[in-house]
Amino acid sequence: MILLAALSLHHKDIHDLPLLPWPSQVEARVGSFKLDDSTTIVAKGREAKENADFLRQATKLTLKNVGKPGENSIVLRIVKPDASIGKEGYRLTVGNSEVDLEASTSAGLFYGVQTLRQLLPAATYSTAPNPGSSYQVPAVTISDQPRFSWRGMMLDVSRHFYTTEEVKKMLDTMAEHKLNVFHWHLTDEPGWRIEIRRYPNLTKLGSLQNYDTFSKPIDGQNHGGFYTQTEIRDVVSYAKKLHITVVPEIEMPGHSVAAIASYPDLGVWSKDRKTNPWAVESSNLNGEESTIKFYENVLDEVMKLFPSTWIHVGGDEVDKRPWKENRRIQELIKQRGLKNEDELQSWFIRQIDGYLTAHGRRLIGWDEILEGGLAQGATVMSWRGIEGGIAAAKAGHDAVMSPTSHMYFDYYQSRASGEPRAIGGFVPLDKVYAYEPVPSALNENEAKHILGVQGNIWCEYIAKPSHMEYMAWPRGCALAELAWSPKETRNWGQFIIRLRNDLQRLKAEGMNFRMLDADGNGGR
Ligand code: ACM
Repeated sequence: MILLAALSLHHKDIHDLPLLPWPSQVEARVGSFKLDDSTTIVAKGREAKENADFLRQATKLTLKNVGKPGENSIVLRIVKPDASIGKEGYRLTVGNSEVDLEASTSAGLFYGVQTLRQLLPAATYSTAPNPGSSYQVPAVTISDQPRFSWRGMMLDVSRHFYTTEEVKKMLDTMAEHKLNVFHWHLTDEPGWRIEIRRYPNLTKLGSLQNYDTFSKPIDGQNHGGFYTQTEIRDVVSYAKKLHITVVPEIEMPGHSVAAIASYPDLGVWSKDRKTNPWAVESSNLNGEESTIKFYENVLDEVMKLFPSTWIHVGGDEVDKRPWKENRRIQELIKQRGLKNEDELQSWFIRQIDGYLTAHGRRLIGWDEILEGGLAQGATVMSWRGIEGGIAAAKAGHDAVMSPTSHMYFDYYQSRASGEPRAIGGFVPLDKVYAYEPVPSALNENEAKHILGVQGNIWCEYIAKPSHMEYMAWPRGCALAELAWSPKETRNWGQFIIRLRNDLQRLKAEGMNFRMLDADGNGGR
């Protein structure tokens, strides 16, 4: 009886710790560590040193570097990899007189530092110069590593444009939640947002959001804009320091109005071209060899800017009708021995897959790339449900789960009347939290192909950064937990308690978010 009481008390204690995502293993210890200006750091080697800098930046304390651990020091250490620590894992021990953090990589140390930060008061997330100078860090032993390697968030900067500063702010908060993939939706109908030097019209014309037939800005304002290659490099290197991989998306062969308006030869035209290039008849590319070559040239520049293994090529929502009705496209289908328009789409993606593979990269696309046959090296991003992910995994391909039902953060998060207008749908916080990324239809081997999970922020109805942030958080917090934490530790009641702390942190750092309802339901 006494033992049981002690155990349950012990349990209650650890779940009071304001950690989000919840770590793989947590044990509370007695006492606390006093962190203040007399605390020293032992950090040898580049990885330890760069993470010591993060800790200094986060705590705004001096944390003098010393050679040897002593009373009141924090030791950051790189150790040999083993199964218990993994590539991104860490072990953190907060004792009464010393903090030990070890990992086998800089990423692991970084995640340990994020956990240590979460043990400090929320006010330390503020940019105020010195929100405090002495903290009692609860003593604890944590052993942690992520469940999935792809913990993603997508931002659509085509429908409405966001500056590099606005993007970096999102990256900071993603990293604090141990999210590690930023999928940057850079091209679509209304705007081409990435400078391609070989094809200047893509940004000179294509970024102006000048179109007349496809989705317009919701506020009637001009949302033109693009990132120069210098700005792209800056964001990619900023993300790298946060251990976030930036996966660029260059849409093809659909959702291509901005590209076609810039270079009409890429398009499908049934009649004489109109004088206004934005009067594009179809958002489809035409599938000519010259169009494939154009996109290979674009990808050459993209690959130079983005070190990511995966390059996203879209592939979704290709309206097959304009291809069906176009004599030249039908000729191409016949010449290539293809059966139909689905196979033309598949042919297109296969060409690009071959090109990316030959350059040591991997193609990822929305689940429509399954139609007409999946390209050899392709990874599938399952969005119209989970079936695309299941089909890919069963065929031995990798998949990332991002179904509209749970992972579309542009959908309404509450039925309350004051919600900003959204595209539709209903994805409240508890629904996000309840999502299980590995479909039960997969056996153990097939399940290994599920790389992870991703939340998507499409911006047809989102024109301002504060609105975009409101849609992202706290659903991004729930996403972080299902992407990182072991399935068995997921617990809605405990999550909501920890989330209250987390929202204090978001508030301190000036991130907008949707507040929980009074009943703690998060928007039901
Ligand atoms: C998508 O939402 N069209 C991928």
